[in-house]
Amino acid sequence: MKILVTAGPTREPLDPVRFISNRSSGKMGYAVASAAAARGHGVTLISGPVALQPPSGIEVIRVATAEEMRRAVRRKLRGCDVLVMAAAVADWRPARAAARKIKKRGAPPILRLVPTADILQDVRPLKGRRLFVGFAAETGAPTEEAKRKLKEKGLDLIVANDVSRSDAGFDAETNRVILLTPDGARDDWPLMPKVRVAV
Ligand code: CTP
Repeated sequence: MKILVTAGPTREPLDPVRFISNRSSGKMGYAVASAAAARGHGVTLISGPVALQPPSGIEVIRVATAEEMRRAVRRKLRGCDVLVMAAAVADWRPARAAARKIKKRGAPPILRLVPTADILQDVRPLKGRRLFVGFAAETGAPTEEAKRKLKEKGLDLIVANDVSRSDAGFDAETNRVILLTPDGARDDWPLMPKVRVAV
């Protein structure tokens, strides 16, 4: 099978030297890409800026912004059977990015943010028979929100994790996840290394 995986954060520029982003390290998505490749699947990894070495033998596309990630996903989806959206896509971006560094003299800037496109919603019409897997990053009550996202984004599977814990979620080596499917099935996995969650 051909598997398309997204990983890491996106960066939304404010000026040439500043951006807004989030704490995603990319470890979960990279672990999924590695596990899929180890099982003999063809893997394309669309990665936001992270400090990780990509697994060898897979196609890697590096992006920075949510919009670049959206375009890359759209471009690569056609040839894939499965989409795993493990990236922590920024939900907002600065309304405008200054062409030059914003100087500190004068009043501090007031940031106006505008929503980015939701990539899963954006590619939903192209789904066809493909399997779509999402992750839900929550700070508390992961299942309720994950159920909502499963439905709203038309997913086949959602992996919910509580990102407020230090041993799970963003930048941790381990994760404690709950898997939910549209038929109401639920599977709670114990705390384990992200590389095992991925397998
Ligand atoms: N996602 C996406 N495009 C976005 C934001 C999120 O495709 N602009 C995907 C993520 O990759 C993940 C799923 O949607 O697979 C859920 O992401 P999450 O951040 O948990 O939820 P949001 O949709 O951003 O909702 P909220 O901010 O309300 O939690």
